[in-house]
Amino acid sequence: MFQYEAPEGAQMIQVWINGKEWQVPEGLTMIQAMWYTGHEVIHGIGCLGGVCGACAAVYRMPGNFRLFNALACQTLVKEGMAFSLIASYPTQRAQYDIEQIPDAKEGLFTLYPESATCRNCNACTEVCPQGIDVRTSVWQAAFGDFKGVAETTMSCVMCGLCVSRCIAEMAPHEIALYARRAYGSRELAFPENLRQRMDSVASGTYDEELERLSRLSPDQLKLECGVK
Ligand code: SF4
Ligand code: SF4
Ligand code: FES
Repeated sequence: MFQYEAPEGAQMIQVWINGKEWQVPEGLTMIQAMWYTGHEVIHGIGCLGGVCGACAAVYRMPGNFRLFNALACQTLVKEGMAFSLIASYPTQRAQYDIEQIPDAKEGLFTLYPESATCRNCNACTEVCPQGIDVRTSVWQAAFGDFKGVAETTMSCVMCGLCVSRCIAEMAPHEIALYARRAYGSRELAFPENLRQRMDSVASGTYDEELERLSRLSPDQLKLECGVK
């Protein structure tokens, strides 16, 4: 199990993790506080950099009725905070090959018929830890404005918190992913620099370097990457 060592002399604060009271040093993220208190965090953790969206969490603060949402690797614990990770949230995830769908707009309603049932409550926008206007993206998708969806949801980390609040029981992030795929595959030109890089990979330009890296020990790799 990973053990987190707190900085020397850090002030202790009181928090509740999954309903149990703990004293932890201030300045820790929620994830670090869980490690510090001996929780085995296997699910609900990934990049630790606010990118992968695996660490969705809910929390409350004393004297405040609101239920807040956050990425646990990006959010510092505070005095009196009560929080839990949401390890996963069941989601309707359609299986499809975007290239094989004849009409992308019709395809959206076939795969996600609920995407036309938004009730405008805006809960998805309020819950989003990335500050995305999720409600607008759902309407953009429903009207076939896939470019608009792509622009609105570019910073989505697929944490699924919007699903947890949607009163129309849809998965706005999956709908947005469909729209981004449709936009990318039908409306955007294939990026020339990406094509060049893919050609380089396919022609073996990096094979020798990859072979060299694969022979390095973990310590040599850390040195190579500048990781302490
Ligand atoms: S849109 Fe939904 S899945 Fe994406 S970051 Fe916001 S809450 Fe998370
Ligand atoms: S939470 Fe659901 S119903 Fe409410 S605005 Fe967002 S998509 Fe629409
Ligand atoms: S662990 Fe990846 S966003 Fe928090």
